[in-house]
Amino acid sequence: MDFFEVLKKRKSVRSYQKKPIEKEKLIKIMEAVRSAPSAGNLQAYEVFVVLEEGKKQEISRWALNQWFIAEAPVVFVFFAHPKRSAIKYGKRGAEFYCIQDATIACAYAQLSAVALGLGTCWVGAFEEMGLKACLSVPADLKPVAILTVGYPAEAPIPTPRRSLEEIFTII
Ligand SMILES: Cc1cc2nc3c(=O)[nH]c(=O)nc-3n(C[C@H](O)[C@H](O)[C@H](O)COP(=O)(O)O)c2cc1C
Repeated sequence: MDFFEVLKKRKSVRSYQKKPIEKEKLIKIMEAVRSAPSAGNLQAYEVFVVLEEGKKQEISRWALNQWFIAEAPVVFVFFAHPKRSAIKYGKRGAEFYCIQDATIACAYAQLSAVALGLGTCWVGAFEEMGLKACLSVPADLKPVAILTVGYPAEAPIPTPRRSLEEIFTII
């Protein structure tokens, strides 16, 4: 699929078929994530790929009971790795770059999943401590985004956007 078609096609999908995602597609998504840019190429993020039903249900609960998370065949959880970025960039790395690294990584996963014919939803509403505890992640990692991925069971409704004039200042 042409890149701009992917952008046009990507809309949040919150209902998924039970059909599992092929391993080759999962690996393609993981490789796309790995190719993302990062500050100083430190790749200051960690990613959990959650397939276990019980774990997905727990994640849903820590994400304000957004139940479509448990229904998605695959749930990615992106964590920033502040210490990894701090080694080179100190406070700026720990507070800023690692968050950006993890966010870009999630955006790459989202767009590559769409390019593979899958639906996704970015989830930012979650309780950090609970999410970390349910995945037993080291204390220093910071959860940045949950990404649900699966074959869509709905045709998502297009959402409006601000005008180019409102968003951009050309000087
Ligand atoms: C940082 C961020 C947090 C979001 N959190 C949630 C969320 O917790 N639950 C949800 O259903 N959608 C969430 N979304 C998806 C947005 O609601 C969605 O992207 C937006 O309404 C635009 O719709 P579209 O994705 O279909 O273009 C989030 C998106 C972003 C980028």
